[in-house]
Amino acid sequence: MRKFNVVVLGAGGVGKSALTVRYIRDVFIDYYDPTIEEEYRRTVKLDGELSTLEILDTAGAEQFTSLNEVYIKAGLGFVLVFRRVNELPSPTWSYFVPSLTQEASLKEVDHLRQQIYRIKGGDTDIPIVVVGTKLDLVNEREVQKGKIQDLANRWEHPFYETSAKRNWHVSDVFEDLLRQMRKR
Ligand code: GTP
Ligand code: MG
Repeated sequence: MRKFNVVVLGAGGVGKSALTVRYIRDVFIDYYDPTIEEEYRRTVKLDGELSTLEILDTAGAEQFTSLNEVYIKAGLGFVLVFRRVNELPSPTWSYFVPSLTQEASLKEVDHLRQQIYRIKGGDTDIPIVVVGTKLDLVNEREVQKGKIQDLANRWEHPFYETSAKRNWHVSDVFEDLLRQMRKR
């Protein structure tokens, strides 16, 4: 059975862990506990073929992003995550989610993309999926859907909007990435 290394990257608090844990364990983590580094594994049957995904959930916090270079070198496919909404801290969070705006989280995706292409030197066909999280939250300051779609089109990566809370489109993300990785 083939094994594929996936790295989940994005700014702090955008929902990387919630997305990953929803996919791995089918539960929603509703509190915020900043990640240092977690590795998950899932064997999936897709298009009649079994594969193992080894998924590395990384830290968005700036003090750890120096490790990104190491992760990017080791990864075959990448999930680049931003958040679709600005949100107010909720009393159920054990920590306050970083007060970074959705715009800044989108910029971080652009930055990560450039970093991946730089580190993978010259490879133009890298398996990448872009994800906008928290589709269940409605907020008037939301990044305009058109604007995001424009960016995703320009980047030429598949783009999904997800909700880890409601389990919307979560498996689509990893299945799309697996199909891209299988072609490599
Ligand atoms: P770092 O590990 O610090 O980089 O953060 P992260 O990107 O892993 O964020 P995390 O998954 O911990 O989510 C941050 C907060 O957003 C948590 O309180 C989650 O419950 C919440 N959250 C994540 N995804 C969703 C979602 O789809 N819907 C809603 N409503 N909340 C979400
Ligand atoms: Mg996390």
